[in-house]
Amino acid sequence: MKTIAFYNLKGGVGKTSAAVNCAWLAAASGLRTLFWDLDPQGAGGWYLAPGESGSGKLKKLIQGKLPVGRLVTATAYEKLDLIPSDLAYRDLDLAIRRHADGDRTLSKLISPFGEEYSLVVLDCPPSLSELAEQVFAATDAVLVPLIPAPLCLRTYEQTRAFVKDKGLGHKRLYPFFSLVDRRRSLHRNLRADPPASLKRLLKAEIPYAAVVERMGDRALPLPVFAPNDRATQAYRALWQEIAETVHIS
Ligand SMILES: Nc1ncnc2c1ncn2[C@@H]1O[C@H](COP(=O)(O)OP(=O)(O)OP(=O)(O)O)[C@@H](O)[C@H]1O
Ligand SMILES: [Mg+2]
Repeated sequence: MKTIAFYNLKGGVGKTSAAVNCAWLAAASGLRTLFWDLDPQGAGGWYLAPGESGSGKLKKLIQGKLPVGRLVTATAYEKLDLIPSDLAYRDLDLAIRRHADGDRTLSKLISPFGEEYSLVVLDCPPSLSELAEQVFAATDAVLVPLIPAPLCLRTYEQTRAFVKDKGLGHKRLYPFFSLVDRRRSLHRNLRADPPASLKRLLKAEIPYAAVVERMGDRALPLPVFAPNDRATQAYRALWQEIAETVHIS
């Protein structure tokens, strides 16, 4: 089993959209996949199973009094299951900090899934917190969507420095460009000549496309309602590159 996370300290960069579409594509390719929505906003769960919400039993889960498998719900899609989030997840950080397992709490929660799933996808809230450290400890790769703009790149560099300083495994960070608008010269220039700090930058990039926003009204992953769209092809290329890079099979 491999575990990947979609993470960025910055909000609104396309983490959830990429996480949902990649999880769906992974399951469609035959991999048993579990999507764990770690964001109290719950958008990822909404796209995959709109009727479901989290159990609110976070404390019991962290304390080991509730088996994590009980939180899993099926989605309408074959081979794709979900652990939904809810507002209780806003206290996930605190709950983890109070718990004794240190930075391996999340890792320990995920490990039993190895028997049933080939892939776990974590959708993370936008913050650099205790949870982020847990996520780095629990994953084989951390995918970081970046809007090709100086501020977003600067935030990425800060995150990378933080991860490196803390010894969390900066070599598992894989940035990719998201919300790319080729009409903007800034985007074109950064794409053509990415800064040296963007090590392991994935080739695949996600264009800015209104159809991605429609995932919200439809409450569906993009490949379900727009299988041939250019943006869907971009997510397909992204998923394929992630699968090859992280050796997910
Ligand atoms: N490629 C895209 N083109 C156009 N709109 C997009 C694209 N990707 C995401 N969006 C829209 O931008 C908004 C933020 O996207 P998303 O929720 O995926 O980002 P996020 O990084 O998970 O945000 P948050 O930090 O709030 O969790 C959403 O309204 C989404 O529909
Ligand atoms: Mg999100």
